[in-house]
Amino acid sequence: MAGSGQAHLRPADQDLLRVEDLVVEFAARGGQKVHAVSGISLDIVEGETLGLVGESGCGKSTTGRAIVQLPRPTSGSVKLDGTELTQLKGEDLRKMRPRMQMIFQDPISSLNPRRKVRDIVSEGLDIWSIGDKASRTAKVDEVLEAVGIDPANANRRPHEFSGGQCQRISIARAMVTEPKLIICDEPVSALDVSVQAQIINLLQDMKHQYGLTLVFIAHDLAVVKNVSDRIMVMYLGKVCEVGVPDALYGRPSHPYTAALLAAIPVPDPEAEPDSETVLGGEIPSPLSPPSGCRFRTRCPKAEAQCAEEEPQMREVVPNHFVACHFPLAPGEALDFTKAGAGAFVDLDSGAAADDDA
Ligand SMILES: Nc1ncnc2c1ncn2[C@@H]1O[C@H](COP(=O)(O)OP(=O)(O)O)[C@@H](O)[C@H]1O
Ligand code: SF4
Ligand SMILES: [Mg+2]
Repeated sequence: MAGSGQAHLRPADQDLLRVEDLVVEFAARGGQKVHAVSGISLDIVEGETLGLVGESGCGKSTTGRAIVQLPRPTSGSVKLDGTELTQLKGEDLRKMRPRMQMIFQDPISSLNPRRKVRDIVSEGLDIWSIGDKASRTAKVDEVLEAVGIDPANANRRPHEFSGGQCQRISIARAMVTEPKLIICDEPVSALDVSVQAQIINLLQDMKHQYGLTLVFIAHDLAVVKNVSDRIMVMYLGKVCEVGVPDALYGRPSHPYTAALLAAIPVPDPEAEPDSETVLGGEIPSPLSPPSGCRFRTRCPKAEAQCAEEEPQMREVVPNHFVACHFPLAPGEALDFTKAGAGAFVDLDSGAAADDDA
């Protein structure tokens, strides 16, 4: 069976970005392959923010980069405003580049330390020869002001700015070509907590002011909750669950989503961390992902079917989709200590190693 299902995709005429069955594999030593992204489908309607969430290594950045064709995906389709990017070559792809931009996690290292901020922000206009010198200067001033950086300081270099200010500069650099789509790859993960909210608010303001469409990548669900119109949860190169934030947080359907929610730090500093509900075990190697459901080696609900058959995406309630053979019932509690902490079910041999079984 191909991919992990596309039941969550909306009609093709509604979306700005449409990704179908995206596969990205990297060559590894000994002729092996890293299965970084294994058949992901997603769609984003213009003006929407899609939150893309999952643990480190699950393929979020690779998905983001493959959307902008850096690197080219191994297979699959990526359409921006109806144009198939995977088929575009040379000048035709170059012409699309200003319409899709990325913002990265580490603002300081993603800015060239030797260049002045003005030149960094102007880069897209220079590379794609947009406007004359005067209009480029005006545009750079405009976006710098929009992100809260005084254009009078634009002759300074990145090291003279704080981490938060550098991320504002990165946002200005992305905005300057007036893109339709911005992929924000963990844009606040490297920032102090006090600065994170400012940058998230800034991205929200920019989105409304300029009618942007965003992919917002994060490794924990707390960050994307308030910014996303839709959230997609990824695990080991596959999509687990897709839904609006209220549904996903209020009624998680995939055991992995429930685990991510349980792992969100409790805001009360007096509260004891609820270690029993936090997921144990490690993500299996993307060189040889588990058969069937890739989450089965850490899932408290895993059964033999999970090893044999890949769960396909299906709608559990309207507009809420899950790829799981045994989705959680509303309010169903999971004992995560049963997974990855010694009670591992050896599905390959068909025998349960769990004493209770
Ligand atoms: N250029 C590359 N070559 C080989 N493996 C890669 C490369 N880029 C990413 N990977 C691997 O692909 C998987 C997904 O990585 P990544 O997309 O960076 O995950 P995330 O952003 O969710 O942390 C990881 O196992 C990572 O080591
Ligand atoms: S119940 Fe099975 S299909 Fe569902 S997440 Fe667990 S292992 Fe995967
Ligand atoms: Mg990443």
